[in-house]
Amino acid sequence: MTQELTSPSPAPQAPGTGRGPGWWRDAVIYQVYVRSFADSDGDGIGDLRGARERLPYLKDLGVDAVWLTPFYASPQADGGYDVADYRAVDPLFGTLQDADELIRAAHDLGLRVIVDIVPNHTSDRHPWFQDPELARQRYLFRPGKGESGELPPNDWESVFGGPAWTRTDRGDWYLHLFAPEQPDLNWDNPEVHAEFEAIMRFWLDLGVDGFRVDVAHGMIKAPGLPDIGHGAQAQLIGAQVLPFFDQDGVHAIHRAWRRLLDGYGDARGKQVIGVAEAWAPSAERLALYVRPDELHQAFNFQFLNAPWQSDALRSVIDASLAATASVGAPTTWVLSNHDVVRHTTRLGGSLARARAATLLMLALPGSAYLYQGEELGLPEVTDLPDEVRQDPAFFRGGRATGAVGPGTDTESAPDGAAAGGQDGFRDGCRVPLPWSGELPPYGFGPGGSWLPQPADWGGLTVAAQTGDPASTLELYRAALELRRRLPGLGDGPMSWAPAPDGVLALTRPGLLCTVNTLGHDVGLPVPGTPLLSSAPVTVDDATAQLPGDSCTWWAI
Ligand code: NOJ
Repeated sequence: MTQELTSPSPAPQAPGTGRGPGWWRDAVIYQVYVRSFADSDGDGIGDLRGARERLPYLKDLGVDAVWLTPFYASPQADGGYDVADYRAVDPLFGTLQDADELIRAAHDLGLRVIVDIVPNHTSDRHPWFQDPELARQRYLFRPGKGESGELPPNDWESVFGGPAWTRTDRGDWYLHLFAPEQPDLNWDNPEVHAEFEAIMRFWLDLGVDGFRVDVAHGMIKAPGLPDIGHGAQAQLIGAQVLPFFDQDGVHAIHRAWRRLLDGYGDARGKQVIGVAEAWAPSAERLALYVRPDELHQAFNFQFLNAPWQSDALRSVIDASLAATASVGAPTTWVLSNHDVVRHTTRLGGSLARARAATLLMLALPGSAYLYQGEELGLPEVTDLPDEVRQDPAFFRGGRATGAVGPGTDTESAPDGAAAGGQDGFRDGCRVPLPWSGELPPYGFGPGGSWLPQPADWGGLTVAAQTGDPASTLELYRAALELRRRLPGLGDGPMSWAPAPDGVLALTRPGLLCTVNTLGHDVGLPVPGTPLLSSAPVTVDDATAQLPGDSCTWWAI
């Protein structure tokens, strides 16, 4: 018997118009990590103009939208997630006019644009923090403990390592869940709410189609800022509700933003969305962020962290679909981003598994995010010398991979596979993209690249892979093309079909997807007509041989 798992089927509707089910429910959204995507001016750092010039590549790849990581004015203490002016473009990345031109050019190509908003903290160079009086109202300052206030106000640790508090010249302390250069805002102050609504309107007026909300689970802290009383807080992030993460109070903020986004979109006949970067302890708690009156999407990091094992994958898929269906939302799948080890490396250093995992993800109901370079099958770079490192966690002795949530550690990786990359810090997934040529910077720009690219990436460039049907790039192109063409993919129902141990078989209308998670071939009665496979499948009269670590889409 097959088990019916349904994510609600939306009524048909012209994309992008009005309220209700819309474009984001099954969109494939490509993450552009701006500083590593394409450099137009030769300073070795990717920029907005470079991104604009490469938009036709993304259109051709077949994605629906682009998410741009922060390009705002920033001292770059945390790759731009330390914002000093939310309405200005950092000169490293260009000008406001470049942003405007990029958004227009994307829209001309039919691509939507999502930008980051960083509401949990600002840069310490933000004018609010620079003004001592304003700072004390709009950030979280507290007296220290101990005889002369020499001890931090509580035991909270920074995600990047060390205490979450820094003492000021005046003797009191301020909270920073991330680097000391990223003081946490005081969301009990209505001026903070008003400012972020104004910032959203600023970017909406410039034409953006939505926001990726950074640390969407962090703005509200438990009253009294209680101690945690646990020496290893890093392991608790994403595993349980903490006094600083996943507090119920954050949902009132998301409800207010949903009203803003809906009101703005309704007035202009478009749908603008919010996607939560929230590390919640369960699929059920994550689903709270996508209730009908909250944000539209929330990254499914439990799927990202699932080991390459059929039972584990099936249970995380079931739990995710059930939780989001209970609130009427689609699930938002993701395998890689700028904070985690690239999935080629994380899944046991296996490009075969990475390609299969991607085809599985793209067959599931809902939306999917792709991280730049995964379409090239890029591995994590694991031999960066210390002197080029920039991840603040590296300097603060913080936690490994997934600096914002639970990482995959080597011990828990399936088959003892190396899941952690070089040492778990985040520079190895941020190495600039190889576009063409045999030598660094591989067409990234006219100069060098801010992190060194491996000498053996010549075969991985966009130019080298284009037109090669066996390449990962052409696999992504073919999958995205089929996803657009086959009405049964994207949002809608999904069922499990019977399959041997180690194999998953799921059906969508008109399509069957098989995934062999084992390291060797598995034979099956031929289930349909092969449409696309991550590795060559052999089909004789009655039997299909699924190669080890492969995924195949079959027309049924
Ligand atoms: C999540 C971002 O993805 C990450 O890069 C950043 O360091 C933290 N939030 C803090 O803003």
